[in-house]
Amino acid sequence: MDIFQLVLRPLMFSGLKVDPEAVQRQFIATCDRLDRNCNSPWGQWTLQQMYQRLGWSDDCLAQSLWGLSFPNPIGLAAGFDKNGVASNVWPAFGFGFAELGTVTHQAQPGNPPPRLFRLPDDLAAINRMGFNNQGAAQMAKVLAASQQRRLELNAEIPRIPIGVNFGKSKVTPLEEAVEDYCQSFRLLQPYGDYSVVNVSSPNTPGLRSLQSVEQLEPILNALQQENTSNKPLLVKIAPDLAWEDIAAILDLVQRYQFAGVIATNTTINREGLKTDKIAITGDRLRRRWGD
Ligand SMILES: Cc1cc2nc3c(=O)[nH]c(=O)nc-3n(C[C@H](O)[C@H](O)[C@H](O)COP(=O)(O)O)c2cc1C
Repeated sequence: MDIFQLVLRPLMFSGLKVDPEAVQRQFIATCDRLDRNCNSPWGQWTLQQMYQRLGWSDDCLAQSLWGLSFPNPIGLAAGFDKNGVASNVWPAFGFGFAELGTVTHQAQPGNPPPRLFRLPDDLAAINRMGFNNQGAAQMAKVLAASQQRRLELNAEIPRIPIGVNFGKSKVTPLEEAVEDYCQSFRLLQPYGDYSVVNVSSPNTPGLRSLQSVEQLEPILNALQQENTSNKPLLVKIAPDLAWEDIAAILDLVQRYQFAGVIATNTTINREGLKTDKIAITGDRLRRRWGD
């Protein structure tokens, strides 16, 4: 039992009822500062100390996939580092890979807060973020700077694969989704070891309809044509699809030589929850948000 489990978690989750998004924002801001200073003496020392305590390496956990070396199979999922500000810090936590984003071509504020809720009784969370991010051009700038710092980094921590996950901008109509995805990909292709097409978030109106064959095919086709660096491309799918729909997506994935599928995004299923309603908003959980 560590200090987080024993003191911090009970305090944040029930005692102080701290806003989960505020905690995440503070944490990311700290990691951002550490990344910007990762080559200073204190930055290198901090990363080294973190890796000594939190990192591990074992040959039986390491694997090579798509020409990339993953030191272990536990990675940071998309949604935590939405603007890609801490790519040099995630390996020090012991992650075997980190997926940055979701980033959209246009910067956007996301849904109005509160939009992230803990359900402690269900060991779960409700996510209604809506792709809040600073946009693909800003992420490209951030990643160019952090790649430069990584080249100069002396701390002895392993290099991990970095994925870039991108979605459709909310202001872009669904009919223009192909070009919106391509614009983000053009800007970010040089910085990700692999890229992920997100068509499965429940929080951008209509986004999940892009998983239908008719809408997904032109997106995968266009992105593979743009993929001049020949790096792995993946599609992130929803957990609420019917088996036939999954089979149809797998067909497209093979046809357009995508490297794989990320399973899965946030569910919209509310069955089996112990929590009846979100205390802070009064929303009943049996109904989906927006219904
Ligand atoms: C607060 C929050 C924000 C998320 N944001 C994104 C996102 O921007 N893009 C994305 O592809 N997935 C996002 N996800 C989904 C996670 O990446 C992950 O796919 C999902 O939580 C399912 O994994 P789990 O069952 O381990 O929670 C988010 C999840 C949460 C809880």
